[in-house]
Amino acid sequence: MANLLIVAADENLGFLFRHVFGEHEIRPARDAAEALESIRAQRPDLVIMDVRGPGTDDLDALRAIRRAAPDLIIIVMTAYGTAQIAVEAIKQGAHDYLFKPFDVGQLRQLVAEALDIAAQRTAARPPQPAAERHAPAGMIGTSPAMQEVYRTIGKVAPSDLTVLITGESGTGKELVARMIHEHSRRADKPFLALNCAAIPEPLLESELFGYERGAFTGALHRKLGKLEVCNGGTLFLDEIGDMSPALQTKMLRVLQDGMFERIGGTETIDVDVRILAATNRNLVELMREGHFRDDLYYRLKVVPIHVPPLRERGDDLVLLAKHFLQRARDELHRPGLSLSNAALEVLKAYSWPGNVRELENVIKGAALTCPGVIILPEHLAVTPQRSAKSAPPDTTSDTAAKETLQKLLEPVFAYFHELYQTGQRVEPFDRIEEVLLRKALAAVEGNQSRAAKLLGITRTTLRKRMAKYGIVVRQQVE
Ligand SMILES: Nc1ncnc2c1ncn2[C@@H]1O[C@H](COP(=O)(O)OP(=O)(O)O)[C@@H](O)[C@H]1O
Ligand SMILES: [Mg+2]
Repeated sequence: MANLLIVAADENLGFLFRHVFGEHEIRPARDAAEALESIRAQRPDLVIMDVRGPGTDDLDALRAIRRAAPDLIIIVMTAYGTAQIAVEAIKQGAHDYLFKPFDVGQLRQLVAEALDIAAQRTAARPPQPAAERHAPAGMIGTSPAMQEVYRTIGKVAPSDLTVLITGESGTGKELVARMIHEHSRRADKPFLALNCAAIPEPLLESELFGYERGAFTGALHRKLGKLEVCNGGTLFLDEIGDMSPALQTKMLRVLQDGMFERIGGTETIDVDVRILAATNRNLVELMREGHFRDDLYYRLKVVPIHVPPLRERGDDLVLLAKHFLQRARDELHRPGLSLSNAALEVLKAYSWPGNVRELENVIKGAALTCPGVIILPEHLAVTPQRSAKSAPPDTTSDTAAKETLQKLLEPVFAYFHELYQTGQRVEPFDRIEEVLLRKALAAVEGNQSRAAKLLGITRTTLRKRMAKYGIVVRQQVE
């Protein structure tokens, strides 16, 4: 069964297709926005689009879908039996077209052929071993760097080996620990987490080992520590680099012999707990400085897993952004909430020092503050940064200048396009012209004849356009 997306303002077409293609799943979309949403949710095998002809924005919609999913096969239907629309459609990247009213036999044949090509394309993609195709449930991302992490999780999960998870803050270290637990034979036993940096040492000690009644003032009852409570399960020690030397010594014994005493107790307790530890600090350096025990370090890093920073995960960013957006839709009951292309560009340009956690918060914040359903760049609490790696723009030749300009205008254009798709008024030429005028005037301190020269227009033209945008400058004496 194939999955066909039918894009048509006329809802009867969806009905017709269900009738003709009973063996396939038919998903209707009324316009480009719905189509893009549907493609994002689940990639169709084939898109069939009704293009109504001049005076509609159907060709723009075709272009938008092409841009969002360049390798999707699109068949165009049109009632305008003119070469004009057909040629335009093919130019915009349609695979083939069909003139209405069409012959059902012809339609079936065209769809069968296109599905054949789609299947070949899918088969041509590099095969992935079944075990690695999907991220473990709960972890989003398919980048090579994360696949490496999943592979190691898969390998170590079934064992009882200690794992040391390193990586910057917010990269998902705790999530990795949970995945290891969930894929281990301890999955139906408790998983407990303890943050060694967040708790003052005496409290951390009693949280870990528990205490006997009367061990210290206020110890009115015996209290079991996490090590005992999660016997048979997994204990995750987060920020282990912040553990005090005294506690490090006690933990080493737990790791080596599975033994400890409660605070104030004499009985030796024997537990079967798997320890997973994480840190965003450089343990080797801490060791060199004498703050971390070497023997504990080597005992912990039996299996090391490094979780890469978000900026090294390529397109995972987009997957994660969409995942958090979906969550926001559900939580805020705003099913129409979507991310504009311009906003996505901003997210892509950012370096994410706070990694996945920061991305999660930025999307959540944007969903809360955005007044409409489309998240625009201004709703994102990030400052776009210039990547240190990108070379300064080359403006030595005209082509290079054009390319640079094209790149610079991309997010601006995406923004206009987004507004346009939501039915808002856009006047891109005016907006850009106004910015150019203001910049030129500012560059020559408001001197109108110099500004006109700079822009290559006459002073009369300059004045007219200034009036149009209500630009006022202090009069200069020339
Ligand atoms: N790959 C991922 N997919 C989905 N959510 C993730 C992913 N990595 C991290 N998160 C989320 O980001 C937040 C921070 O993750 P966490 O494991 O606490 O990071 P760390 O322990 O490295 O600081 C959590 O809300 C977590 O659910
Ligand atoms: Mg953490």
